Amino acid sequence: MKTIVILISGRGSNMQAIVEANLPVHIAAVISNRADASGLSYAQSKGIATRVVDHRNFDTREAFDARLMQTIDAFKPDLVVLAGFMRILTEGFVNHYQGRLINIHPSLLPAFPGLATHEQALKAGVKVHGCTVHFVTPKVDHGPIVAQAEVAVEANDTPATLAERVLIEEHRIYPQAIRWFAEDRLTLTPDGRVNVKDVETLD
Ligand code: GRF
Repeated sequence: MKTIVILISGRGSNMQAIVEANLPVHIAAVISNRADASGLSYAQSKGIATRVVDHRNFDTREAFDARLMQTIDAFKPDLVVLAGFMRILTEGFVNHYQGRLINIHPSLLPAFPGLATHEQALKAGVKVHGCTVHFVTPKVDHGPIVAQAEVAVEANDTPATLAERVLIEEHRIYPQAIRWFAEDRLTLTPDGRVNVKDVETLD
């Protein structure tokens, strides 16, 4: 069975969805850069090891990332799952986990990278929004796409109502993508393309 480590910064609802999906993986630890991340107590209640690496204790991103890497690697994960982890990671960190570091982003990438994605989508007037699971590469919110789900934008949507519907889809596709990895069905080709073997429809 594969081992995963999940990184969070806050509420951790994606982490919770992954735990509740009962995937054939060993969730070795949940690590946060904030001691007050509410998701930590949920993980503890499920008997999952938790760690805090507070970015404010480090002078540079490199020093923070080095400690984070050390903390993660102690659990020997096959896959590192960013689930609402709100720190930009250095190239050295990303390269260390090449092909085994994934993220969920609340937009249909490559549209709307960065923060405030729901505001960005409403401002742009798109009719279709959604979320993306992708392998992490040094360029933030880029990287080979593993899965996406669409959400129709309604005329009276606010960032909050849109975020709520997108989150439902996040909770569906993130566990699904990790299941593919767990079942050895998800691979990244040397030219950076994602292959999923025997993909079933996500709809
Ligand atoms: C999610 O929308 C995720 O896509 C984004 O931050 C939010 C985190 O939510 N990067 P949660 O902590 O998983 O509840």
